[in-house]
Amino acid sequence: MKIAVIGAGYVGLTTAACFAEIGHTVVCADNDEAKLNQLRQGEMPFYEPHLEDIVSRNTTSGRLRFDVTERAVAGAEAIFICVGTPPLDNGDADLSSVANVARIIAQNATGYCLVVEKSTVPVQTAQQLKRQLQLYAAKGLQCDLASNPEFLREGSAIHDFFHPDRIVIGADREEAALQLREIYLPILEQTFECPVHSVCPTRTKPGWVVTDTNSSELIKHASNSFLAMKISFINMVADLCEAVGADVTKVAHGMGMDPRIGSAFLNPGIGFGGFCFPKDVQAFIRIAEKSGCDFALLKEVGKINQGRVERFVEQVRKELWVLRGKTIAVWGLAFKPNTDDVRFAPALSIIRRLQAEGARVQAYDPQAMVKAEKEIPDIAYCPDAYKAAQGADAVLVLTEWEEFRNVDWDRLGMLVERRLIVDGRNALPREEVVAHDFHYIGVGGASETPQMAVSSTAR
Ligand code: UGA
Repeated sequence: MKIAVIGAGYVGLTTAACFAEIGHTVVCADNDEAKLNQLRQGEMPFYEPHLEDIVSRNTTSGRLRFDVTERAVAGAEAIFICVGTPPLDNGDADLSSVANVARIIAQNATGYCLVVEKSTVPVQTAQQLKRQLQLYAAKGLQCDLASNPEFLREGSAIHDFFHPDRIVIGADREEAALQLREIYLPILEQTFECPVHSVCPTRTKPGWVVTDTNSSELIKHASNSFLAMKISFINMVADLCEAVGADVTKVAHGMGMDPRIGSAFLNPGIGFGGFCFPKDVQAFIRIAEKSGCDFALLKEVGKINQGRVERFVEQVRKELWVLRGKTIAVWGLAFKPNTDDVRFAPALSIIRRLQAEGARVQAYDPQAMVKAEKEIPDIAYCPDAYKAAQGADAVLVLTEWEEFRNVDWDRLGMLVERRLIVDGRNALPREEVVAHDFHYIGVGGASETPQMAVSSTAR
C-alpha cells in the first residue's frame, strides 16, 4: 500500500521504516528540511537499536523515501499522523501540530485516503480531526478517519513494532478497520521476515482490538497512566521497605508472580521520565478534569514521581554530608537504557541539584552525552565509565545500561576516592559489587555494606 507517515520523530520514523520493511511503499514526511536532508544521507536524528539498518535497506530498495508533508500526502492511500503533542504549561496536550497536519492533508491529499491518528491525543481528537478534514477538504477528496495508538517503547521500538501485544484500532466505519488490517497483516499473522534476528525469538500473534475512536484514544492514555501508576506504587513500597527494613526487590518479585499484578513495571528508582509518561499523566488528569472527573489518584502518581529526585539527592547527601567540593560520578543520563533521549530524564534533574549544591559532576552515558550536553553544558563528560569515576567520592547509577553491570570492580576500586555506589535503578549485581569491597546503596532497602566497610570507606 502507498503510505505517508507524517513526522520523523521516534514514533514516525520507526513506523515508516517498519512499514517499508513489511512491504509497503512509504514516504516519511517532516517540516524540518534539515532533518529530511540528514535522513536522505542515512543519518539518524536519534539512536534506536536496529533502526539505521532498516532505514538504510529500505531507502536503497526505494520503498522508503523522505519528503515534505504537502508532497508526501498526495497520492497516499493511508496517511499516519505521528507528530508531537508536547505539554502546554497547564498540562494540556498541544495539538497545534496535529491541527496543522490535518489542514495540509485536506488541501493536498487526492482521491480516497484513510487518515490515521497515531500521535498520543486527548479523547475526541479524532472527531475534531474529521471535522477539520471536511472543512478544509480540496475538491474531490474523500477521507476516512481512524485512530491507531502507538505502544512502542524507545530502546526496543523495532522489537515492539514486529511483536506487539495488541494492535488497537478506533474506527467508525468498518472499511477503515479493514484497510488497517490489510496494512498490518504481516504483523497480525507474524509472517514477516525478521529484520533483527536470524531466528525470531517469539511468534505470538497479537490481539486485534477494534473500537470506536473515543475508546481507542482512551486506551492509549489509560495504558500509559496505569503503567506510571504501577511505578509510583512500587516507589512508595520502596520507601516503606527502607523505613521498616525490608527489601523491595524481594517484595516486587513476590507481588509480580501473581498474574493479576504481573512483574513488569515494578522496578523502583528515581522515577519515570521521557517524553511520554510525565506528559501523558498530566494530559490525562486534564482530560478527566475537563470532563468533570477528578482523577485524584493520578495527581498523586505525578506527585510521588516528582519527589523521587529529591529523595535520591537526599540519600546522596546523607552519605557524603556536604556536597560542595565533592566529586560525583554519574553513570547514565538517558531517561532509560538503549536510547539517547534525555527529555524529562530524572538524571538531568539530579545533576542540576548536585551542581546547585556545589558538587563537581563527571558523567558518562553510552549514547546520550551529545543531547545531555545541550541541556547541561557545564559538567565534565567522560569517554567511559572508568574515567567518570576517577577521583569520585561516589558513583551514582542513574540509567540501567547493561555495560554498567559488567564493570571491572577491582579496576574501579583503584580509581575512586571512596568506594561508594548509590544505585538509583537497582541495576548493579549487588553481591558482586559488595564482594569487591564497595559500599552499595540501592533503592528500597536493596543496600549492603561490605564486611571490611570501615577500612575500605576510609580510603
Ligand atoms: C512508554 C510506554 O511504555 C510505551 O508503551 C508507549 O508507547 C510510550 O511510552 C509512548 O507513549 O510513546 P517509553 O516512554 O519509551 O514507553 O519507556 P518505558 O519503558 O515505558 O519507560 C518510561 C519511564 O519509566 C522510564 O523513565 C523508565 O526508567 C521508567 N520505569 C519503567 C521505571 O522507573 N520503572 C519501571 O518498572 C519501568
